[in-house]
Amino acid sequence: MFAMEPIGVVRSPYEETTQIPKGLGAEHRAEGVLEILPQFEAGLLDIEGFSHLYVIWVFDRVSGYDLLASPPSDTRSHGVFATRSLRRPNPLGLTVVELLRREGPNLYVRGVDMLDGTPILDIKPYLSSVPVNELRRGWLAEAEARQSKEDR
Ligand SMILES: C[S@@+](CC[C@H](N)C(=O)[O-])C[C@H]1O[C@@H](n2cnc3c(N)ncnc32)[C@H](O)[C@@H]1O
Repeated sequence: MFAMEPIGVVRSPYEETTQIPKGLGAEHRAEGVLEILPQFEAGLLDIEGFSHLYVIWVFDRVSGYDLLASPPSDTRSHGVFATRSLRRPNPLGLTVVELLRREGPNLYVRGVDMLDGTPILDIKPYLSSVPVNELRRGWLAEAEARQSKEDR
């Protein structure tokens, strides 16, 4: 077992999960604030140089998990580890946000998909080294292709 303590909390415009965009083509443009606790503020030194951050957080308002998930972006179910489902054995969320500015212990960001008050476990600079042409999008690409056929 591992014991972890939050380094801060997400301030988000979302109070209810129904307010958060979901499904194919959903865009996360909402602004929020990552409020870092005073005892961890020194760990933000030099973070301003990064345009995007990974935020690792806890799905604190979910209990239990399913090994098969039915994402809103598809009519078929998939293994939980092939999805971003919130109902997972270890309820960890991972979100890439754009860093707009820092004010002391507060990071103003765009792209939150967390509920207000969500505990933050860690923040890391986003550095993608995978060339776009080497990325495969699995079942999501198939779901997108099916959807665009239906839209035509
Ligand atoms: C599909 S998950 C994806 C989250 C993250 N981008 C990821 O990939 O791990 C996003 C959903 O989690 C739910 N959610 C957000 N914050 C939550 C929280 N603190 N506890 C439980 N569910 C939450 C909302 O329903 C939101 O639409």
